[in-house]
Amino acid sequence: FAAQAAPKPLAGRHALVTSGPTHEPIDPVRYIANRSSGKQGHAVAAALADLGARVTLVTGPVTLSDPSGIETIKVETAAEMLAACRRALPADIFVAAAAVADWRVAGEADRKLKKDGGLPPPLRLAENPDILATLAAAGPDRPHLVIGFAAETNDVVAYARAKLARKGCDWIVANDVSPATGTFGGDSNTVHLIRRDGGEEAWPPLAKAEVARRLARAVAARFAPAAP
Ligand code: CTP
Ligand code: CA
Repeated sequence: FAAQAAPKPLAGRHALVTSGPTHEPIDPVRYIANRSSGKQGHAVAAALADLGARVTLVTGPVTLSDPSGIETIKVETAAEMLAACRRALPADIFVAAAAVADWRVAGEADRKLKKDGGLPPPLRLAENPDILATLAAAGPDRPHLVIGFAAETNDVVAYARAKLARKGCDWIVANDVSPATGTFGGDSNTVHLIRRDGGEEAWPPLAKAEVARRLARAVAARFAPAAP
C-alpha cells in the first residue's frame, strides 16, 4: 500500500502572504529598516502550502532561504510590496505578516549624501501605504479571508481588536512583542487569534512554525465545506 497522502484541505486556494521588513532608501547606499526576521511570515507561507494552497510569498529583505514550492517575490520597499501584492491578486487568503516600514524618506537622494562640514542632513518622512488596509478594501478583488498581524508591547488584545477594525481585516494575530518574550528575531511567539465576529483564542508560547501550522489549520477550517 502507498502511504496515505496528507490531507490537502486548501487545494485549489490561492494564498498571498507578506513577510519580512521593508527597506526604505535614504540615498543609494543607506536605508531605514526594522528588526523583522521574516521567520513568522515564511513559516505561515510554508504551512499554507503544506495544506495544499498555492502560495505567493511577497517578502522584504531577509536572510532566510526561499521556501520550496512557493512562488517567492522579493521586494525592498513598502511601495514595491503593495504593487507586487496587487499583481498577485486574485487570492482567496491574504496574510499580512510583513513588518512594513510605516514611513519612507520623502525625496530620497539620488546620490550618496556627503558630510560637508555643516549640519547633519534632516530626514523628512512620508507615511507609507497600508498594504493590509488597501487589500482589505479592494472591492471585488478583496481576498475572502484577510488576516493581519499586530505587534504590541502592552494591552495586546485591546489594541489588536482596534487595529482589526481600523484596517477592515477578518482576523488578526496579536503578537506580544514586549522585550521579555524575545519575539523579534527569536523562534517563538506568544499570540492571540482574534476574529472580527468576536471569537478570541489565547495560544500558549509556541515555536513560530507551530503558530503557523495552527493558523493554517484555522484557515482550512474556515474554508471547509459545511458538514452534510
Ligand atoms: N501593515 C501593512 N502595511 C503597512 C503597515 C502595516 O500591511 N504600511 C500590516 C502589517 O503587515 C500587519 C498589520 O498591518 O499585518 C499591523 O501592523 P502594525 O505595524 O502592528 O500596525 P500599524 O497600523 O502600522 O500601527 P503601529 O505600528 O502604529 O502600531
Ligand atoms: Ca507599523
